[in-house]
Amino acid sequence: MKMNSLIIVFLFTLLQWSVQSAASAPCPGYTASNIQTHSTGLTADLTLAGPRCDRYGHDITNLTLQVRFDSRSRLNVHIFDSCRRQYQIPPSILPLDQGAGVTKAASKLQLSYFHDAQHGFGFRVSRGKDTIFDTSGHPLIFEDQYIEVTSCLPHDANIYGIGETPDWFRRDTTNTTKTLWNRDAPDPFRENVYGSHSVYMELRNGKFHGAYLHNSHGMDIVLANNTIQYRVLGGTADFYFFSGPTALDVIDQYTELVGRPNRIPYWALGFQNCRYGYKSVYEVNDVIANYSKARIPLEVAWTDIDYMDRTRDFTFDPVNFPLSEMQKQLKYLHAHNQKMVLMTDPAIQHNSSYGPYARGHEKDAFIKNSNGTTYFGQVWPGYTAFPDWFAPSTDKWWGGELQRYFDALPIDGMWLDMNEASSFCTGSCGSGKPESDVPPYPWTLDPPPPNRALDKRNRLLNPPYAIHNPQSELSEKTIETTAMHANGLADYYVHNLTALTSARSCSLGRLLQGSGAMANHWTGDNESTFKDLHVSIASMLDFGIFGIPMVGADICGFNGNTTEELCARWIEVGAFYPFSRDHNAKDMVPQELYRWPSVAEASRRALQVRYALLPYYYTSYQMAVEHGWPVARPLVFQFPETPAVLGNDWQFMIGDAILISPVLSKGARSVSAFFPSGFWYDWYDLSAVYGWDTEVTLGAPLEHVNVHQRGGSIVVGQEPGLTTYESRRNPFFARIALDSSGCAEGRLYLDDGETFSSPHRWIRLSFSSGALSVVQESGSYTVGPVLATIVLLGARVSGVQGVQAGVRYRTLGSSTIIKNLHIDLNSNTQVTFISP
Ligand code: GLC
Repeated sequence: MKMNSLIIVFLFTLLQWSVQSAASAPCPGYTASNIQTHSTGLTADLTLAGPRCDRYGHDITNLTLQVRFDSRSRLNVHIFDSCRRQYQIPPSILPLDQGAGVTKAASKLQLSYFHDAQHGFGFRVSRGKDTIFDTSGHPLIFEDQYIEVTSCLPHDANIYGIGETPDWFRRDTTNTTKTLWNRDAPDPFRENVYGSHSVYMELRNGKFHGAYLHNSHGMDIVLANNTIQYRVLGGTADFYFFSGPTALDVIDQYTELVGRPNRIPYWALGFQNCRYGYKSVYEVNDVIANYSKARIPLEVAWTDIDYMDRTRDFTFDPVNFPLSEMQKQLKYLHAHNQKMVLMTDPAIQHNSSYGPYARGHEKDAFIKNSNGTTYFGQVWPGYTAFPDWFAPSTDKWWGGELQRYFDALPIDGMWLDMNEASSFCTGSCGSGKPESDVPPYPWTLDPPPPNRALDKRNRLLNPPYAIHNPQSELSEKTIETTAMHANGLADYYVHNLTALTSARSCSLGRLLQGSGAMANHWTGDNESTFKDLHVSIASMLDFGIFGIPMVGADICGFNGNTTEELCARWIEVGAFYPFSRDHNAKDMVPQELYRWPSVAEASRRALQVRYALLPYYYTSYQMAVEHGWPVARPLVFQFPETPAVLGNDWQFMIGDAILISPVLSKGARSVSAFFPSGFWYDWYDLSAVYGWDTEVTLGAPLEHVNVHQRGGSIVVGQEPGLTTYESRRNPFFARIALDSSGCAEGRLYLDDGETFSSPHRWIRLSFSSGALSVVQESGSYTVGPVLATIVLLGARVSGVQGVQAGVRYRTLGSSTIIKNLHIDLNSNTQVTFISP
């Protein structure tokens, strides 16, 4: 099956009030009884232990506790209402791995429960001697619209994850509220934005563990007073705990549960260009040609909503982006081994003469008002209906629309935006309005309905507990929480599932049938500032924890005018994002990489490193597919025992071997880089730095980004071309970076990069006692190009045993470059080097 399409989905949403100060009675907690243990866990009844407190809803008297040792490393503690009226995410929407179930004795995690007179039932999860989750001292509150679970944290805990929110990577545990309510907002620092990921990992005494709350409701997760407190607007308390003990183990265990990242086509790793506000297909043609003239790699040309006829999905502007010219552009791109991605928004214009609307209406595929009429909001094309991804006919209707669209223009990937879902007016604003084509955005927004925010009686519009959504109410700038889905549920319960379900429908309808794959992510509307450049690293690292490793930010910044210096520094970071794309807002100064000489030069240099590393990126990505391991990683994942890296989000690693130390401030021409102990080799001049767990000042001229390879690693790459297609045909090189014992190892994954059915090949490379071994691990994919160059970092050699004439050697400091080799990567090989 073809895999040559990339979906990027933008998970969005959100609202805020101040926390209510309900001076209510203390909550009594619950009493456990009828405890039944069985081979893989236990169940118990939990009964409200005293008078109701009705803190922010109605206490539920009878609960069930269900504990299951899913696997040796995963424990599920689920507390739900015994009558099962509370909403839970159905497996049809997000199937979770069930695990075979193991005995308590076999589990690395243990559960103990207790009762205290003041707070009632509580539980502790421990891993060996370490308690990792402990509710003692805090009652469980379980109400129809409010669940509160609190666990103790050590002082100054190291917490990572919980989002989506632009923030520093290590969370401030003294005073942080992470609100999970998908929200279309231009990357406000420390506020909730597009998607919701209720998973965190914690590092304690050198070991990581993790916890995930499986619940689609809006929530606050508060880190303060040496506790983590969940305040959730409904559903159940369905916790999964992961034993780690490494960071990669936690992510492996989490993604085993919720699903591994989807496979990506090889081309998705190439550099991509976009902007909002291209005026015509001809302008985009010029951009494509200008990249080529500047010899800057361009793999994918993206076009924003500008290509649409009056910003309506699946249409083409007949004057500026006529279909015939778009077809020509696609043909041109394909002829040059480049790709095209176009925007699709989920909002469908209310207009009976517009096919997608008429057919969707006929299929009953839209979200409704509570009175059964179609719910309308306002998005780019004016009044719009929203696909109801829970309606039985929606996938089929949407799949049909995609089919027509792809028949006209077989693009390579889809860009799904506005999926929070974003709507510009508040509430159902288009009902009863005449259908009409509106002038291009910006048009006049409908005012919010009068007194709406005051309607405190409507508990779905204004739940008694107000999560810290900065909007004035939950429904502002999104679909109203009272709008109805075909499954009989108001949007209140499933709002945070909108992007997931929309991506799912695209996968089912078109691109990735049967793969279980969904989508990837970009981090939304950032600002062209040095601060946002820095935050982009933290956000990228967050998404590694969330199990979405194909991630990146808008290079050079979206909102606001970028500058030459910022754009140069940004591509020096962005060239290494797993998803590398320049994107710009409308009316901002142009920022394609060829616009300034210094930016063009910085781009060529940084992208040359990336393209050389493409096989290494693809190998790292395959590890994500198999184990969930992120491609971009913070130093703390690899060096958890090193206190200095706990909060380091100004450097990052690609895989476990490549360290990027970028400049993140204006005017700087050097960078203070931290090197964990061991050898680190400069990518460009091959010189070695010995890291003593110290910072080293490195020169960083404007066009230069510091890249180092960890001693002890072997990285296999290919000579870089201007497209991934070209690069894939070039000879391989291996950079063998020796550690202090003269050893190194690495792996290489290969397949055709295009089809799901391709055979693969895993190869292990190791170096010790002066010899390189290439060992085939699995697979039958035939590797074309040979391994032609070996760079031995940290050793001088003068020859290779048994190798044909013509091999060239060059020493550089303490390293040697050996060229003109012809090593076949399809079989096991041993290469022994001769010392001078
Ligand atoms: C949203 C997207 C942005 C896009 C714009 C127009 O703001 O986040 O990337 O350019 O819509 O479609």
